Amino acid sequence: MDLRLDGKVAIVTGGSRGIGAGIARAFVDSGAQVMITARKEPGLREAVAELGSGAAYFIANSGDPAAAEAAVDATMQSFGRIDILVNNAATNPYAGPLVEVDEARYDKTFQVNTRGPLFWTQQVWRQAMAEHGGVVINVVSCGAFYLDARLGVYGMTKAALVHHTRQLAFELGPTVRVNAIAPALVPTAMSGVSGARLDTWGERVVLKRAGTPEDIAAAAVYLASEQSSWMTGQTLVLDGGMTLGLAPDQSQSAADGVGEPGAAHRPGGPAEVNRVPGGSSAQGAIPPRRRRRPALAADGDGPARVGRGDGRA
Ligand SMILES: NC(=O)c1ccc[n+]([C@@H]2O[C@H](COP(=O)([O-])OP(=O)(O)OC[C@H]3O[C@@H](n4cnc5c(N)ncnc54)[C@H](OP(=O)(O)O)[C@@H]3O)[C@@H](O)[C@H]2O)c1
Repeated sequence: MDLRLDGKVAIVTGGSRGIGAGIARAFVDSGAQVMITARKEPGLREAVAELGSGAAYFIANSGDPAAAEAAVDATMQSFGRIDILVNNAATNPYAGPLVEVDEARYDKTFQVNTRGPLFWTQQVWRQAMAEHGGVVINVVSCGAFYLDARLGVYGMTKAALVHHTRQLAFELGPTVRVNAIAPALVPTAMSGVSGARLDTWGERVVLKRAGTPEDIAAAAVYLASEQSSWMTGQTLVLDGGMTLGLAPDQSQSAADGVGEPGAAHRPGGPAEVNRVPGGSSAQGAIPPRRRRRPALAADGDGPARVGRGDGRA
């Protein structure tokens, strides 16, 4: 069975690198034209140059509803239609206990990861899909289903996005199908995991390796294609078997986890989470007072602009 997207037009948010770039590549290879978005122009320009003439970019912060409207409008102007939206861009400016989070980072995480996909979907619905149908794919995370001592806020945004996927599938069907993909660890800028720590995590999952953007992209092509035409409201978990259980970590102390979507995951109820045998606290244990907090992530938010790799607007 050959999965093809010939004649389709897709928007991939956060398409300049990592999983989003992998999805954009696979869409172009399957015959689609693609508009990628992100905040920083150099990465977008480079990605579009690599994707070739079937791609264009638009600078837009995914958490900004006005940028969503402008990006969808620019895609209609450039390509004349929109068949597929991939809500892939996300942020994770805070790694720490939920109970310690400050308002700014809590709000920013929800703004980009949860509000963003809603307002982008609203725009493609209004400007294109209500009339001729389409497909929306939300990139969530295994963090939506499992607990991690440092990723509570991020996990909440992704869990909300799973519900959002089901709700919008219910509301927009049969015209628009809405599904989600929940990856476990894929080495990217966001996961920030490489080298020995990556090997360690890979050894602990059933399929003995971390994911790749291509793994996620293959699922996205399936969800975007006619071959999944009887599927909506679902979340595909791509995790190398992580959610079946992780083998014990032999190589490092319990206090050294891998981060997104991390070794601290433990199947079971909250009482089992992040406790090492003997009752001592494990990775991400909540300190009584945190004097220093991780700084806000460097933010490339800027004015919305459109461009093509070949210099055309
Ligand atoms: N990597 C993993 O292990 C993993 C696991 C589970 C789920 N995920 C999910 O997979 C998706 C992609 O993550 P990734 O690992 O590929 O991340 P990544 O390599 O860091 O790429 C993130 C992309 O999103 C863009 N972006 C970030 N913040 C944005 C914002 N506010 N507005 C618009 N664009 C923004 C980035 O470009 P700019 O910086 O230029 O804006 C970049 O293109 C996310 O939804 C993430 O939650 C990742």
